[in-house]
Amino acid sequence: MPRYALITGASRGLGLALAEALARRGRNLILVARQREALESIACELTQRFGIEVLFRTCNLANPLQLTGLLQELEESGLVIDLLVNGAGSGLAGPFLAHDWGDEQRLLELNVLALTRLCHGIGNLMVAAGGGQILNVASLTAFQPGPWLSSHCASAAYVLHLSESLREEFKDYGVKVSVLCPGPVPTAFFRLTGLDEQRLRHSRLLLSPEEVALHAVRALDRDRALIIPGWRNRLVASLHRLLPRALVRWTVGRLYRSLLSRR
Ligand SMILES: NC(=O)c1ccc[n+]([C@@H]2O[C@H](COP(=O)([O-])OP(=O)(O)OC[C@H]3O[C@@H](n4cnc5c(N)ncnc54)[C@H](OP(=O)(O)O)[C@@H]3O)[C@@H](O)[C@H]2O)c1
Repeated sequence: MPRYALITGASRGLGLALAEALARRGRNLILVARQREALESIACELTQRFGIEVLFRTCNLANPLQLTGLLQELEESGLVIDLLVNGAGSGLAGPFLAHDWGDEQRLLELNVLALTRLCHGIGNLMVAAGGGQILNVASLTAFQPGPWLSSHCASAAYVLHLSESLREEFKDYGVKVSVLCPGPVPTAFFRLTGLDEQRLRHSRLLLSPEEVALHAVRALDRDRALIIPGWRNRLVASLHRLLPRALVRWTVGRLYRSLLSRR
């Protein structure tokens, strides 16, 4: 029976880089995102380059009905998923009160609820199949409060804590859980979030999606709980935990405010 790695957010950015890094290792894949054309051409390319089987499913994960449909289909299909990569996510920069509530809700539906539901639904399928592995993508911002990027940073903190908790709970069922906390990565994420791309692209914390994906896949082999690619990023995560909270709030707030793109 073939086994698959299911990757959400696989149509571009970090999810795509993770899909490619896994394809390179001969893993069969199930790619999930909203854009059918992108998924179709990625599936075709990865199949040809690596001789693996690549399936894809379009799903707006922020839509609970579509997510229910996806989970039902996966359950009925009998496909064996031994790796779940929760890579889909979005950000929203700017003053919290000025945001449209619908945008805030979509962020939480995707970053928090969909990820949690996939851990639950696919986690249960893994247990029934005798085990598996889950990689949740959080962010370096998970270690700090993030004024002007408030819900996004809070959702990353949620993913970090959920993943570490599930790691302990799932141990007895043979399901390993890891969490990836990358620093800035040059993807469409900056622009879509409303951050100044030019300034972020000069950050010394920046790593390419391919570097992050390679680091993550190697860390998964070693079953690392917390994966922070790049020594500078690991230093920042440690500092955020050591410095006084008020200082971190103030500094991060000033930084993020200065990074808001003037649209
Ligand atoms: N880039 C960074 O600097 C950075 C740093 C740390 C953490 N992260 C985290 O990494 C994750 C991925 O970021 P990225 O940089 O790869 O962003 P990205 O380039 O914008 O990619 C986001 C992916 O998520 C998918 N997606 C978005 N909304 C979706 C929805 N409603 N339903 C299903 N799929 C959806 C997108 O595909 P479709 O549009 O086709 O649906 C795309 O494949 C996010 O959680 C982000 O917080 C990013």
